[in-house]
Amino acid sequence: MLVQFEVNDKAVSVEVEPRTTLVDCLRYQLRLTGTHVGCEHGVCGACTVLVNGEAVRSCLILAVQVDGSKVVTIEGLSNDTELTPLQKSFRKHHALQCGFCTPGIVTTAHALLTEEPDCGADRVRQVLSGNICRCTGYISIVEAILDARAAYKTGS
Ligand code: FES
Ligand code: FES
Repeated sequence: MLVQFEVNDKAVSVEVEPRTTLVDCLRYQLRLTGTHVGCEHGVCGACTVLVNGEAVRSCLILAVQVDGSKVVTIEGLSNDTELTPLQKSFRKHHALQCGFCTPGIVTTAHALLTEEPDCGADRVRQVLSGNICRCTGYISIVEAILDARAAYKTGS
């Protein structure tokens, strides 16, 4: 089936099997390998991307379901010139170790901060409960997200 959608502001047309998940389409057909695959059944959050602004587990939806949608991956949340405020905050707070969970967590955090730039630590923890990190213990991640709130309040 031909599926047409936007990825990181670029229009794409991809021929997929009806059963192809969005994450497999992104990684193996569009070569956007920043989106990771962990559990493949909606538990770990490593595969989180934005679909029309909502944080979505790309292992749980089919590529054909995003036809006509706007998809943003972790690659679309960075640029070639400098780190974004959220990336800077993750670096400042040492909010990653192995980095496997990081694309999903940054994407989840971006969606949260875009919608709720005044969120508190409890809300951050609640939202992050869908993202498993085996390394950090989460404290540094929560601190990084809270520290990045200012940038979202000013629309950065
Ligand atoms: S790979 Fe999608 S939630 Fe784990
Ligand atoms: S930094 Fe290793 S799983 Fe989160």
